[in-house]
Amino acid sequence: MITVVGSLNIDFITMADRYPRLGETVIGQNFSQAYGGKGANQAVAAAKLGSPVNLVGAVGQDAFGDGYLAYLKEQSVTTTNVERVTHHTGTASITIAQEDNAIVVTPGANYSLSPEDITKHQAIIKKSKLILVQLEVKNETIERTLEIAHQAGIPVILNPAPYRRFPDTWWSMVTYFTPNEHELELMLKETTLDAEKKNKLITTRGEKGVTFYEQGKEVAIAPPKVKVADTTGAGDTFNGALAHFLAQDAPLKEAIKMAVYAASMATTKLGAQSAMPSFDRLERFVNQHDAN
Ligand code: RIB
Ligand code: NA
Repeated sequence: MITVVGSLNIDFITMADRYPRLGETVIGQNFSQAYGGKGANQAVAAAKLGSPVNLVGAVGQDAFGDGYLAYLKEQSVTTTNVERVTHHTGTASITIAQEDNAIVVTPGANYSLSPEDITKHQAIIKKSKLILVQLEVKNETIERTLEIAHQAGIPVILNPAPYRRFPDTWWSMVTYFTPNEHELELMLKETTLDAEKKNKLITTRGEKGVTFYEQGKEVAIAPPKVKVADTTGAGDTFNGALAHFLAQDAPLKEAIKMAVYAASMATTKLGAQSAMPSFDRLERFVNQHDAN
């Protein structure tokens, strides 16, 4: 079982020809609402591939929260460790222009998830094969998760998104960090990479694929060519799929390759979760598009 400790957001998605400048209003073309949040996105990505997934998080006592929990049940994600709190369910305002996106997240309930909640749910963390965390819940909450996992010897993938400074001590409790290029740049302002840290780095580089270190040497995994509709959730699909394949004991390079292909598939449709593949679809896609 994989346990994800992270956020659940309702995504409000609009498309525009270009982003507004500060103080400006532009007219968009399209509106849709979707289930998002990096924690839940990554949980759904792993569950779609067939992993048993447990989500630890928080939603509001509002209609968004009701809807999200019902939806996650349909996706076979276990939600018994999702708290209902008095703050509103997290939201994300997403504007898509020219295939790229800009996102404002309002954490709401996600920031109510406390270290005490994590302690309360520690039994499930200790029973997990692997833990997956992002930076859309508070640092103190993540830190408690890392401590419990580390003490129990459970591997952790930390996706440092959206980037925020974190203590250098986290490096010793995390198995893999999965920043994108921009997040890596920010991380390198806070720390210097020694050989041990390099071995923990898996960097996603958009259409350039993913790089990681194998015996101290940087290795690149190229993505297949696809027609991109919306990159929202590509990083989350990568992380959820990586967790899935590592939990299946796949070798690191193979797990990364499968995750790169899953992430490519996720960019072909609008929304974070809509184009996340099942294992069968992913396997077929890999056979058709092998770029490595
Ligand atoms: O990574 C994509 C996600 O970031 C969106 O679903 C949105 O909720 C924000 O958290
Ligand atoms: Na997408």
